[in-house]
Amino acid sequence: MLVGFVVTCDCRPGQIGDLDDEFYLEVRDLLSKHAAHQAPVSAPRRPREVVGWPRPLPHLGQVTGVAVNSRGQPVVFHRGPRVWDASCFNASHDFQHVAEGPIAVSTVLTLDPESGAVVSDWGSNLFYMPHGITVDAEDNIWVTDVALHQVFKFRPGETRPALTLGQRFRPGGGWTRLCQPTAVAVATSGQVFVADGYCNHRVLTFSQRGRLLRLIPLPSEFLSLQVPHGLALMETLDLLCIADRENMRVVCPRAGLVPYASVQPVSIQAPDLGRVFGVAAAGGVVYAVNGPTSPQIPVRGFTLDPSSETAIDRWGPSAGFHNPHGIAICPNGTTMYVTEIGPNKVWKFSLVSGESV
Ligand SMILES: *[C@@H]1O[C@H](CO)[C@@H](O)[C@H](O)[C@H]1NC(C)=O
Ligand SMILES: *[C@@H]1O[C@H](CO)[C@@H](O)[C@H](O)[C@H]1NC(C)=O
Repeated sequence: MLVGFVVTCDCRPGQIGDLDDEFYLEVRDLLSKHAAHQAPVSAPRRPREVVGWPRPLPHLGQVTGVAVNSRGQPVVFHRGPRVWDASCFNASHDFQHVAEGPIAVSTVLTLDPESGAVVSDWGSNLFYMPHGITVDAEDNIWVTDVALHQVFKFRPGETRPALTLGQRFRPGGGWTRLCQPTAVAVATSGQVFVADGYCNHRVLTFSQRGRLLRLIPLPSEFLSLQVPHGLALMETLDLLCIADRENMRVVCPRAGLVPYASVQPVSIQAPDLGRVFGVAAAGGVVYAVNGPTSPQIPVRGFTLDPSSETAIDRWGPSAGFHNPHGIAICPNGTTMYVTEIGPNKVWKFSLVSGESV
């Protein structure tokens, strides 16, 4: 279990030997009974495709990211004519097409949730290789650019960043540089989590003002990430769920938002989960999309239950996903969006309550 029923042991090595196996069998039995009674509290909502959305189709390049603002409008981040291929980065992760300049078209589009029409757009001549986008509780927009190796925060309506993390075109590790950062999550308290990313395989935690607070994982956490590619906070459980892409799992270490909370980290794996590209959380579960992994593993969506550490549902549009990349759920949990990179596309799903999975 995650919280509320955690068997902890402060005992020193050696003391464990004093307890017999029967004790552990009893504890396991108790835990499974408890789990059976507890989960799920209410049936997780099942994603159902909104057929024919959006209309008209917005003109999009690789749509790497999606977020939903406080008005329930999806905000997508796309690459316009630029495409990430083998020529883009060399072995030290330096972007090779700096001379081509930033993407000239608007890369951030706000869509009407009903029609999908573009309501507003910005982000031209700013970005080189868009990746993740997040809207925080104050409607600030956070984006990551894997070519710039930077993360930016933009206040609503502004196109000059209020905060910049990482150094322009300078990949690196340590405390001041990032390397192809993929995603951002922001807690309601303002704490910021940055998935850093394709080369450093870590998550950095910053204060609201951008002061580095913590690294995930710490060496003592015995957690090895392999391309942390998406982030989703489960604030009430104090968990930060990470699409640990190349490890083909979702891991949720303690977010650290609640001091001294006793939180058991969660690791969700399934034989058909494959490479997990994106995660979003709502209603106590994690919705995830995988990407091409092997011919035996279908590309689709998953509903993952952290309390049982299992995949409890599989879903997707009737035409199927090809290369899903971004996923986001609106603040009230009724609508979900998934973006794809090739074919470049945005899907809308309604999250239907009461339909058990
Ligand atoms: C959820 O939010 C959307 C977008 O803001 C709104 O249209 C819808 O009515 C809301 N639904 C509920 C049940 O609050
Ligand atoms: C990669 O490209 C950068 C310049 O774009 C260069 O400084 C660096 O030495 C190159 N690294 C390798 C390993 O070739």
